[in-house]
Amino acid sequence: MSERKIIKKYINGDLTIVWEPKKCIHAAICVSSLPKVYNPEEKPWIKAENANIEELKAQIDKCPSTALTYQINNEENNNKTEIMETKIEVMENGPLLVRGKLEVKNSNGEVESKDNITAFCRCGSSANKPYCDGAHKNIDFIG
Ligand code: SF4
Ligand code: FES
Repeated sequence: MSERKIIKKYINGDLTIVWEPKKCIHAAICVSSLPKVYNPEEKPWIKAENANIEELKAQIDKCPSTALTYQINNEENNNKTEIMETKIEVMENGPLLVRGKLEVKNSNGEVESKDNITAFCRCGSSANKPYCDGAHKNIDFIG
């Protein structure tokens, strides 16, 4: 069953914030690092005009799930242009974050390429295994 991909865009001059809610793993890094832009209590929850482009880029680069990316002058930018060294981080009560260029061979034999940050499920509840889909929050995963 294929689900419709939901993408929302928020524009501040030359930069467009691209938001894919399905990818969000609810780390809330965006809210804590730039609360003047990201406020889940308000609508729209992203107010791109409340920060300058450099502040927005720096924050978007920290999003662990790539739910937030940005585009400049209609060129898609998946947060990073250069390939990063592979680094692994265990997120408290959340996924395993792998930063860097990867090839993931799924159980059905399909190979996917990842080149930024990939969040793997540790809690077992994701409906999109092996990736995290934010379900760890729903089950109050501790680990
Ligand atoms: S995963 Fe990204 S978009 Fe979702 S809450 Fe965390 S920083 Fe924000
Ligand atoms: S760790 Fe996020 S859904 Fe399992």
